[in-house]
Amino acid sequence: MKTDLTDKTIVLGVTGGIAAYKSVELLRLLRKQGANVRVMMTRNACEFVGPLTFEALSEHPVSNSLFDKGDDAPIRHIDWAREADAVVIAPATANIIGKLAGGIADDALSTFMLAVTSPVILCPSMNTHMYQNRAVQKNLGTLKSYGYFIVKPEAGDLACGTTGPGRLPDPPDILDRVLYRLTPSDLKGKRFLVTAGPTREHFDPVRFISNPSSGKMGYAIARAAEHRGGHVTLVSGPVTIPPPLNVSVVRVLSAQEMARAVFDRMEQSDMIIKTAAVSDYRPKEQATHKIKKGEKEKTLALQKNPDILKELGRRKRKQVLVGFAAETQELEKNAGKKLAEKNLDMIVGNLLTQPESGFGTDTNQVTLFYRDGSKEPLDVMEKDAVAHLLLDRIIERIIRR
Ligand code: C5P
Repeated sequence: MKTDLTDKTIVLGVTGGIAAYKSVELLRLLRKQGANVRVMMTRNACEFVGPLTFEALSEHPVSNSLFDKGDDAPIRHIDWAREADAVVIAPATANIIGKLAGGIADDALSTFMLAVTSPVILCPSMNTHMYQNRAVQKNLGTLKSYGYFIVKPEAGDLACGTTGPGRLPDPPDILDRVLYRLTPSDLKGKRFLVTAGPTREHFDPVRFISNPSSGKMGYAIARAAEHRGGHVTLVSGPVTIPPPLNVSVVRVLSAQEMARAVFDRMEQSDMIIKTAAVSDYRPKEQATHKIKKGEKEKTLALQKNPDILKELGRRKRKQVLVGFAAETQELEKNAGKKLAEKNLDMIVGNLLTQPESGFGTDTNQVTLFYRDGSKEPLDVMEKDAVAHLLLDRIIERIIRR
């Protein structure tokens, strides 16, 4: 499945709230995803951010009046509505929300909106009391019933000095909800259990054995599954990246904690994808206090951790089970062996010796190994794209068979 916005035309509507400055960044992110973006601003929005900024970054004229200048200007509101694959209004003020709910067309944006037939993503942002006002809430309810996708404002300190809901979410989160709205729900209702990140095996309160897993691959899978309509639980080792939206995150530290979290949720899962880089061993003993340095050499005795995936393979009934194999040599041999030993439906192999692959990178180069002995080497791709392709193959090669 295509995961970015290439070939899509998005109209970004900007209305007159203090958060209008965030729309500049949103425009950049939409363009980075490959979208062709046209910007429509209300007159009040132009008081906050100059149209020139949006014009330069979108590489298109900005529309802010029904009487714009330019050859195409007189019918811009109709042409842009016809061309749009989606419309995003961020920030959306109480005023535009009221006008849209009432069908009022008294400026370029509100007139254009009456001609729009594509999905609309609306991001309300205003003072808390205004947001909670019954008229605004009623209007939002009306727009929801018309099929608008409403991105809830965040709670926090607002520019007007109040604290509460009303803040425009950060641009990456708005982009994420745009992608969610535009991604077909081909995994609707499927329950996913994804593990990600490293584990930490402490031998004293401040020291541990671990690995450099960033969690990016597992988080990308969780995000992709959520975008496609899945209910996702993400069991995550310690990582620094932000959690995907609308995903239930269970934080764990050690392999034993991860094992408990996973086994507890196994029965309620349809697909289990084990991306985590689990430590195979843990220190036999864990000191209560920091171990002091001494003159002599020290030896750390290790004992085996539970192989979570192997145990899942043993217990599995109807679940689809996918593992990862990170190797530094003999990928094919090792991956094939794990696929069989752990009773998996698929294993994703990646060689950690390549620069664009593995721990911490945003890209990955993997080979998919299937139960029937076949394999599919993939090109170097963004981890988000690998995640979607993996889900495509789960649908085509496992669920549909
Ligand atoms: O055998 P190996 O550790 O290389 O297998 C990797 C796969 O097994 C990954 O999917 C990883 O999440 C899982 N694993 C596990 N429990 C362990 C070690 C690995 O679930 N103790």
